[in-house]
Amino acid sequence: MAEADSAGTGGAALADAVEAVGCWWIEAPYFASAERHMDEQWRGLILPFLRLDDSGIDCAVVVDLAAGRGRTAAKLLPLAGRLHLVDLHPNNLEACRRRFGADPRVCCHVTNGWSLPLGDAEATFLFCFDAMVHFDSDVVRAYLREGRRVLRPGGHAFLHHSNTVAHPGGDFRSEGHWRNFMSRDLLAHYALKEGLEVVRQQPVDWAGDGGFIDCFSLLRRPSAR
Ligand SMILES: C[S@@+](CC[C@H](N)C(=O)[O-])C[C@H]1O[C@@H](n2cnc3c(N)ncnc32)[C@H](O)[C@@H]1O
Repeated sequence: MAEADSAGTGGAALADAVEAVGCWWIEAPYFASAERHMDEQWRGLILPFLRLDDSGIDCAVVVDLAAGRGRTAAKLLPLAGRLHLVDLHPNNLEACRRRFGADPRVCCHVTNGWSLPLGDAEATFLFCFDAMVHFDSDVVRAYLREGRRVLRPGGHAFLHHSNTVAHPGGDFRSEGHWRNFMSRDLLAHYALKEGLEVVRQQPVDWAGDGGFIDCFSLLRRPSAR
């Protein structure tokens, strides 16, 4: 797992950055309302970007980072050989356990908020939707480093992240949709610095006002030479 200061910041500062965001998703009304949009988001946004038939994404061992109550996991499970659900809050993972029962393909893990509880090169596909948009940039960078570590050579990461630099240094809740400070270019810069290739990126008009406050990025751990 990553050291606490893997993003170049002190462990306490990183823990504070995790807590400042994570505290809003313990028993949030978000979960029930978000569930209703999943079919549309999966078919209209996620699948067209992933292009699973020609992108080389291998779903043998999938990690759903910040899985919440399992709405994306329900879409990933039919594709996955094994599905690791990772979240900050044990109660969200409890809800996932109830949802997926004893399915032997599903494994739930609590994270400290900046590390992935998987072994080196264990995963083929890291997936994160509608969560990283809120994460502090130090936390995003720590997860990029962890992604590089847990992905097999040639493995992919799909990250839905913020493309909003409206409030540098400010509270993420200052932005109307609670987007934290991040951009398409900064994500690419961090990914490259952490040893991941950028396969493609696509700004997303999440608010539907032409602001393109979000971005999808498909990254890849370089193949072993
Ligand atoms: C907006 S919800 C999205 C959940 C899920 N991805 C979905 O689309 O339904 C954000 C999730 O991120 C989790 N979370 C917040 N901070 C986190 C962190 N630093 N690491 C892992 N999970 C985190 C929360 O517990 C919550 O489940």
